[in-house]
Amino acid sequence: MVEVYFHDNKDNVDFREAHDSGHPVSLDHLARIGVIYKHCSTEEQVNEVALERQYKNRDEVSISSESLGDALLPKLQNFYAEHLHEDEEIRYILDGEGYFDVRSAPDDRWIRCKLVRGDLLILPAGIYHRFTLTTQNRVVAARLFKEEPKWVAHGRPVADTLSIRKEYLASIQL
Ligand code: LAC
Ligand code: NI
Repeated sequence: MVEVYFHDNKDNVDFREAHDSGHPVSLDHLARIGVIYKHCSTEEQVNEVALERQYKNRDEVSISSESLGDALLPKLQNFYAEHLHEDEEIRYILDGEGYFDVRSAPDDRWIRCKLVRGDLLILPAGIYHRFTLTTQNRVVAARLFKEEPKWVAHGRPVADTLSIRKEYLASIQL
């Protein structure tokens, strides 16, 4: 089962450590901020999600020192910079593990979701988030997209002014 909890915000510790504050977060809480978690033990279940949401395409990324060598650390630093997208972000873990941190609302606290093989996460457009590996240091994930992927990352606070950010905040009126 997915582990979801508030991040401890200890930024002097490697971001791949657990950073578990000891305060769990429920899947209901995630749903209230528009984040959907689903375990898909078969590829068939992933296909159903894709069909429901009209995602036609997907690709696969492998993030590890074997696959990226010296490019791993800069890539991880990039993924860990708080950002949002103008489209949903859907990730399905094929192997390894990863942490997705999403901003809670209205309190703006980091919530950490630990995803392992078979876990699927849907992040709504406009939510601030970041990603990192676990201490296992390896993940293989499928990225689902519709036509051309719009994966431009808009950083904070510049992205605060984007209409997608305003629409997201309006959509989660708590
Ligand atoms: C992405 C993840 C890392 O934007 O948030 O691909
Ligand atoms: Ni992202």
